[in-house]
Amino acid sequence: MLASAPAPRRGSKAELYQHLLEQARALLEGERDATANAANLAALIYHTLPNLNWAGFYWLAGGGLVLGPFQGKPACVRIAVGKGVCGTAARERKTIVVPDVNEFPGHIACDSASRSEIVVPLMKDVRLFGVLDLDSPDPARFDADDALGLELLVQEFIEATDLGS
Ligand code: SME
Repeated sequence: MLASAPAPRRGSKAELYQHLLEQARALLEGERDATANAANLAALIYHTLPNLNWAGFYWLAGGGLVLGPFQGKPACVRIAVGKGVCGTAARERKTIVVPDVNEFPGHIACDSASRSEIVVPLMKDVRLFGVLDLDSPDPARFDADDALGLELLVQEFIEATDLGS
């Protein structure tokens, strides 16, 4: 018999992300359009995860990041790779968790309410397509469990979506 992963603890962050992943699978099923899938995923994340004030995408286009579908207040449209939390995650091609945005050199403040942030790169094999960015009004809102949960969610999105040729 195949061993299955143990069920996450009830009410835990892992359980919340497992639930979110299942909802995302159902939401993205049968549709491969990048705008539609990113818009629906941003809305799902924003309305499912507690204590967020922004959730959305930046696409890699023309050598920089450009604003994609999101939920929250209007945001900066273009971010250079290497700038801010988003541009740093894009340059490093790894998830960045920022417990206090005021301590992150070069943080770009789109909404003054933001206190902490997490940015996950959208990678397929070695290719970067953009980033997923979440902001919170709470300090230290995001941890390693959020990083893992969001990375799994991003993988689901990448597999389910046509992201350029
Ligand atoms: N704070 C981000 C900019 C994007 S907004 O948070 C939506 C950054 O430093 O890259």
